[in-house]
Amino acid sequence: MRLRMLLAGLVSAGLAFAAAAQAPANPLVIKFSHVVANDTPKGKASDFFAKRAAELTKGRVKVEVYANSTLYKDKEEMEALQIGAVQMLAPSLAKFGPLGVREFEVFDLPFIFDNAEELHKVTGGPVGKQLFAKLETKGITGLAYWDNGFKSFSANKPLKTPDDFKGLKMRIQSSKVLESQMRAVGALPQVMAFSEVYQALQTGVVDGTENPHSNLYTQKMHEVQKHMTLTEHGYLGYAVITNKKFWDGLPADVRGQLEQAMKDATAYANKIAKEENDGALAQVKASGKTAIYTPTAAERLAIKKAMVKVHKEMESRIGKETIDTVYKATGFDPTKL
Ligand code: LMR
Repeated sequence: MRLRMLLAGLVSAGLAFAAAAQAPANPLVIKFSHVVANDTPKGKASDFFAKRAAELTKGRVKVEVYANSTLYKDKEEMEALQIGAVQMLAPSLAKFGPLGVREFEVFDLPFIFDNAEELHKVTGGPVGKQLFAKLETKGITGLAYWDNGFKSFSANKPLKTPDDFKGLKMRIQSSKVLESQMRAVGALPQVMAFSEVYQALQTGVVDGTENPHSNLYTQKMHEVQKHMTLTEHGYLGYAVITNKKFWDGLPADVRGQLEQAMKDATAYANKIAKEENDGALAQVKASGKTAIYTPTAAERLAIKKAMVKVHKEMESRIGKETIDTVYKATGFDPTKL
């Protein structure tokens, strides 16, 4: 028995030695920075990508994931990517407007998607490709679209009607569409980096916010928000992006392996996103700290009617053609509410 264990030990030590001997001493390092917790759809998918990249390149590439704004915050990370200080990011689609690619804000339009299937028709179709083509002019290559989910509103008072939002300071991402969405119900939008939201809610710098449940829960926002309304009024997802010069300069075989790793990570991300958000909502419920309200169909419609006017308002910014293409793909008709 002892001898068998000894032999097994020697064999596994030998295998580990062989693997270590094969792994290159100086792997190519990819810094992948993001702003959310590890335990979210984006956090898990970026870790998955790192693991898959190591497997497929046999250790030639090491992806270092920096979560929770530990390396860069929202605004800085885009600049860091462009100057090559990091090689990969996965910002939410709402964060591309300030880069000058305003068409991305079509994804922020309230109530434009009813579900993830409609959204995938757009990201997986010509619009998704055209948007990535626009990024190339900014020195950025788009690699994939990853889901998070649909947003809920939260505040320290119940939000059931458009009037309930009046005068509330609501934190938003840096998107003109989201700004206009909040103004449509009389709220006062405040652009703020994701890393600062918890404290701003805690200290009353802002009264409320919107986010998918996984973000709300993992940042502990539910501890400082007494009410949440499951409006699912808008979508929040990501574009995984890389520095174009870096990407184009990779050896072709490595680039191909990383593309495969990204394909696998994308399938994983989009598979777990809903489960993660449902799980987070269950945790918020279990905490007993936040009253969760599901609006009636009539209440949701009233909020929808108040906010959908933003689509028309934003035509000149996003482009009517882009909005119409999305309407066509999803079947959304703003005149039929
Ligand atoms: C936010 O700023 O609310 C989100 O974009 C954070 C994220 O990356 O999910």
